[in-house]
Amino acid sequence: MTTYRIAPSILSADFARLGEEVRNVVAAGADMIHFDVMDNHYVPNLTIGPLVCEAIRPHVQVPIDVHLMVKPVDRIIPDFAKAGANIISFHPEGSEHIDRSLQLIRDHGCKAGLVFNPATPLHVLEHVMDKLDLILLMSVNPGFGGQSFIPHTLKKIAAVRRMIDESGSDIMLQVDGGVKVDNIREIAAAGADTFVAGSAIFGKPDYKAVIDAMRGELALA
Ligand code: DX5
Ligand code: ZN
Repeated sequence: MTTYRIAPSILSADFARLGEEVRNVVAAGADMIHFDVMDNHYVPNLTIGPLVCEAIRPHVQVPIDVHLMVKPVDRIIPDFAKAGANIISFHPEGSEHIDRSLQLIRDHGCKAGLVFNPATPLHVLEHVMDKLDLILLMSVNPGFGGQSFIPHTLKKIAAVRRMIDESGSDIMLQVDGGVKVDNIREIAAAGADTFVAGSAIFGKPDYKAVIDAMRGELALA
């Protein structure tokens, strides 16, 4: 049986009450906290860095899943590891030496992930499968929360699912962007096991109701 994980993105949280927000979402059943890092260079937005990761670390026992939308990535990786990140993923476009960046993440004791935008080809994957703990497929173009799921991503999820199964490796397949209660089942059916959801959860008054509804849909996938 597939283990499904729900990873609320704090991008849509109330930053003035971030500690309380992450505690509440974990109490509501979140499996990890998705932490979106944007640099106003790789993506046209600017968000949060290692200081904020360090600040929320004592508030949650679940893994902190850092999604780096930055370029270049290498200099900031050790800072996030020291700040308490458990998983660090980056976009291949953000690194001159993908293999080296993946190894850098693992050398700092974190799980390593690669992130593919909707139009980014998957070919680099075949060379680094043994260095990956997570593959993240973006189902929106990165930079903002609250965008609509791009349906073409479903085919890409199925393709990566096959690659992971053929590799025999234990790699999480995460999807990020426009994930809601009403589409999570088909995203799971395509092969994803880890679901980032920002506005679907933090935009709502009852986090547990949304997470429970997502789990209900996943049980039917
Ligand atoms: C987008 C971010 C996402 C975003 C998802 O660049 O990587 O994690 O917060 O937000 P929703 O779930 O609202 O699409
Ligand atoms: Zn993200």
